[in-house]
Amino acid sequence: MARFTLPRDLYHGKGALEALKSFKGQRAIICVGGGSMKRFGFLDRAIGYLKEAGFEVELIENIEPDPSVETVMKGAQKMLEFQPDWIVAMGGGSPIDAAKAMWIKYEYPEITFEEMCKVFGIPELRKKAHFCAIPSTSGTATEVTAFSIITDYAKGIKYPIADFEITPDVAIVDPDLAETMPKKLVAHTGMDAMTHAIEAYVSTANCDYTDPLALHAIKMIKADLVDSYNGDMAKRDSMHNAQCLAGMAFSNALLGIVHSMAHKTGAAFADYGAHIIHGAANAMYLPKVIAFNAKDPTAKKRYGEIADFMALGGKDDDEKVALLIAYLRGMNDQLNIPHCIGHYGADSYPTEQGFVPEDVFLARLPEIAKNAIGDACTGSNPRQPSQEEMEKLLKCCYYDTEVDF
Ligand SMILES: NC(=O)c1ccc[n+]([C@@H]2O[C@H](COP(=O)([O-])OP(=O)(O)OC[C@H]3O[C@@H](n4cnc5c(N)ncnc54)[C@H](O)[C@@H]3O)[C@@H](O)[C@H]2O)c1
Ligand SMILES: [Zn+2]
Repeated sequence: MARFTLPRDLYHGKGALEALKSFKGQRAIICVGGGSMKRFGFLDRAIGYLKEAGFEVELIENIEPDPSVETVMKGAQKMLEFQPDWIVAMGGGSPIDAAKAMWIKYEYPEITFEEMCKVFGIPELRKKAHFCAIPSTSGTATEVTAFSIITDYAKGIKYPIADFEITPDVAIVDPDLAETMPKKLVAHTGMDAMTHAIEAYVSTANCDYTDPLALHAIKMIKADLVDSYNGDMAKRDSMHNAQCLAGMAFSNALLGIVHSMAHKTGAAFADYGAHIIHGAANAMYLPKVIAFNAKDPTAKKRYGEIADFMALGGKDDDEKVALLIAYLRGMNDQLNIPHCIGHYGADSYPTEQGFVPEDVFLARLPEIAKNAIGDACTGSNPRQPSQEEMEKLLKCCYYDTEVDF
């Protein structure tokens, strides 16, 4: 038996934020990030709508990008004091993911972070609060997914919490919130969404319910992302829907090793002063992983179907896979994303000498490869890599060399 789970309600389109006016309850806590929601007036609007609906409103502010276990624990404490019956998380993937983890800890104060990370092991939520997510970036789709990504900085590792219990009750996908994104964020989150859709389509857990969502998302991202990056606001609005469709697909079809590798490299070199931003990591690794996975006949055929759906041409599956890889690399070029870690600058732009030194990368490689294999996203990848293969694959992602194994 398979399961397909989405939020009960999804409000979308310009001005959808107003849906908050129709919420019923007593106390709402709004979780936001570092200030963009406040700066652009969306936080005040959300507070106003909730007050209009009769809520007492409290805030958890300044949730950092790539939120930490400590942030989660602190926020849960605040929830325990305020006792909200609605948690409204607003902003990028970071504050929404942090709020999801706070929600678990709020409902079950005794639970440890390790227990939260047990895949599909979260106890029943909604005994204290319901959850509404309002995304301001067009990529993670955490507003519709069963996932939350929390970073353990002591270990330098991102941990996915995965359970349909944390699929939000309500998603508000209002493109107005995405229009204020700076270009770099558009590029990174957009390629994150492309990776979600492609990984979901070739995942071993794909099904008839997820395939159409993944394919339509891929088609839209191909049509909209680069123009959105270059300032076309109609395309920006469309990307907000596309990323959400990709999220509906991957929340139910799961992901693959592009995400395993992104999770385990993202914070692995934080001591060198930078992160490899999630979407940029995916954008760099995706073409390499496609070449690796395409050795599996079923995956190759499905990449061919993606290429057909994107109208890339090619007379057989080998050609189609090559054209898909070339197309994605071309998108990276147009979005100013490097092709490999070796050329990934501390500011995320392509540079001759990236911020991760070669000797440090090689010294940490075996551990990173082991962690990537153990990541929750590896299980649904169409080809299971050995330790040696994962190390070779990561090397290709460092040097931008061809995957021929
Ligand atoms: N839960 C999931 O299913 C899932 C999926 C993929 C990624 N993730 C996780 O999500 C996180 C990344 O989220 P993200 O890419 O949305 O970025 P983010 O939430 O980390 O935000 C990045 C920066 O953009 C700013 N920002 C956000 N929206 C803005 C807007 N509209 N205008 C101007 N500035 C804005 C934020 O203040 C922040 O400084 C990572 O931790 C990643 O691992 C989660
Ligand atoms: Zn992602």
